[in-house]
Order: sequence, then structure tokens, then C-alpha cells
Amino acid sequence: MKKIAVLTSGGDAPGMNACIRAIVRSAYNKDLLVYGIQYGYSGLIKNNIKIIKPEDVGNTIHIGGTFLKTARSKEFFTREGRKIAYQNLKKNNIDGLIVLGGDGSLTGANIFYKENKLSVIGVPCTIDNDIYGTDYSIGFASARETVVEAIDKIRDTAASHERIFIVEVMGRESGSLALESGIAAGAELILIPEKKYSISDVTKKISKINVEKKSIIVVYAEGCKFGSLKKLSKSIKSKIKDSNVRYSILGHIQRGGTATPSDRILGSILGNQTIECILKNKKNVMVGLVNNKIVLNDLNIVANKKNIIDKDLYELANVISNY
Ligand code: F6P
Repeated sequence: MKKIAVLTSGGDAPGMNACIRAIVRSAYNKDLLVYGIQYGYSGLIKNNIKIIKPEDVGNTIHIGGTFLKTARSKEFFTREGRKIAYQNLKKNNIDGLIVLGGDGSLTGANIFYKENKLSVIGVPCTIDNDIYGTDYSIGFASARETVVEAIDKIRDTAASHERIFIVEVMGRESGSLALESGIAAGAELILIPEKKYSISDVTKKISKINVEKKSIIVVYAEGCKFGSLKKLSKSIKSKIKDSNVRYSILGHIQRGGTATPSDRILGSILGNQTIECILKNKKNVMVGLVNNKIVLNDLNIVANKKNIIDKDLYELANVISNY
């Protein structure tokens, strides 16, 4: 019986559990034996590996996070760490590895394949939605929903006090989460790292909007490099007379919570496809969904490219937000 292993690595993302469930059950249907590796690559190096049966993944689809646990492994990024990881797979007679994670984890998977030539299949899982080769990564839709809910709440208090609120959204170097949640929450201004601004550009934009409206929501992607929220707030206060400014960093609530139905479905589709890839003896690919169609991309390409921001969506935000 062919043996494969699955791990989750890097930042957790809602929908990972749905994906693991689909992997385990699809594998079982095709007579493959699945091993779960706990704590990502760190667990692989520590041989933290055990069989997962189809019934073990019951009652997990609605749970946020990853029941396999996750970690950001520094050791796996050393040659020595990867050697031990490979030896552990061999010791357990495992000849395929499925990696659920973001860009760092998929880059690690690509290096691991190049050194060992075993079947390595990647699944894009990150709230940042910055992975090349898929329209959406697992976890993004759920985080977007959490951010929109939070901004709706902030808007109530911002409007009542006539305050300017800057809301910091996660996304690392990508503005995807900020852009889509900003549009859905009706933010008056969305600031993303893909665009260059100075503090004074931003203050000028806000002053223009604020002439009519006393309360506005500014969504600020964490990757923006033009200054801290504290500095930005100070600058707005000093330039806009009688302005009442607050900022809020949403933080890790964005990664938690139950997965939306769309993330559960995406997790199920991509999880199932990983098994198809294993059966077809595919090596070093990532499964993704583009225009609602399954696509496979070489992990070497995925590791070296980024999902770029949707320019039309950014333009749309500019047209409909500043009133
Ligand atoms: O990559 C997912 C992400 O949530 C980023 O948006 C964020 O910058 C980072 O992880 C936070 O990482 P950690 O949970 O290790 O602080």
C-alpha cells in the first residue's frame, strides 16, 4: 500500500482542516495510507508522525486552525534539518508529502523536492492570498469575513464619535486582504503596500474626504512602509483641525474562527486534487483554482513568483470609496 504524509506549516488558515479531511478520505478511497505530521516541518524533523484514518477527521470541517498543529521551522531551512526530515519519511516508508501552507512553506517544499526527488504536492493556504497559481488561497475568504465584521463594528463607534479610524489589516507584503475587505466594508480609503504613498499624501487624501464627512474608515495593510499608525494618526491630527483620530490593529483574530463555506469547499476540492496528483505520479506541483478550474503549477515557479494585486479592483475602490 502506498503511503503518503500531510503536514500544515507556517501561519494557520481557516479551511486547513477541511483540506486535510478531503486528503485523508480521498486517499482512503484509493487505497492509500495517510500519515499526519504534527507541527509542520519541525514535527517531520522530530519524527512526530502517525496514521490518520478517515474517521479521525470527522467533526473537524467546521473548526478553525489546524488540528495537525503548525510551526515556523528554522531547522528545516538548514540542509541538515532537511536531511533528518527525509530520513524520517524513509524510515516510515512514506513516498509522497503534501504540504499545506503559505509562500515560505511552499518554498521549503520546493527545496525539499529538489534535494530528494520524492513526490511533493503543495496546497496554497494563507490569509495573505499572495500565492502565485491560484485565484484564492485557503483561509483568505474566512479572514476577509472576519475583517469586514470587525470594521462594521468599528464603523458604528467611529460614526457615533465622528472619528477617523485607521484599521490595520494583516497580509504581510500583500495588500490583497486589505483591498478586498476594505471594498466590502465600504472603507473611504484603502492603503496597500503595492502602491507608494507618503504620510503627507495620505493626510491630504483624508482631509479632502473629511471636509464633508467627520467620520471615515481607513484600511491600512500591515505591509505599508510609509510610517507607523502612531505617526500617521499624529500627522492627521495636526493637519485636520479638530480631528478625532483612533487606530485599531486587528491582529490574530483575522486568522482564527470557523472557515467560511467557500474556504471549506476550496479546501475539499484542492485536498481531493492532491490525491489525484499522487496517483498520477506528479512531482513538485501546487494545486490551485484559477477561474474555477483546477490548475497545477510547478512548485519552482510558485516559489519564485507572487500573486499580484488586482489592479481593476484597486481602481474600483478609488472610484467608489472617496465620498
Ligand atoms: O502569513 C500569515 C500572517 O498572518 C501574516 O498576515 C502576518 O504578517 C503573519 O502571518 C503573522 O505571523 P505570526 O503569527 O507568526 O506573528
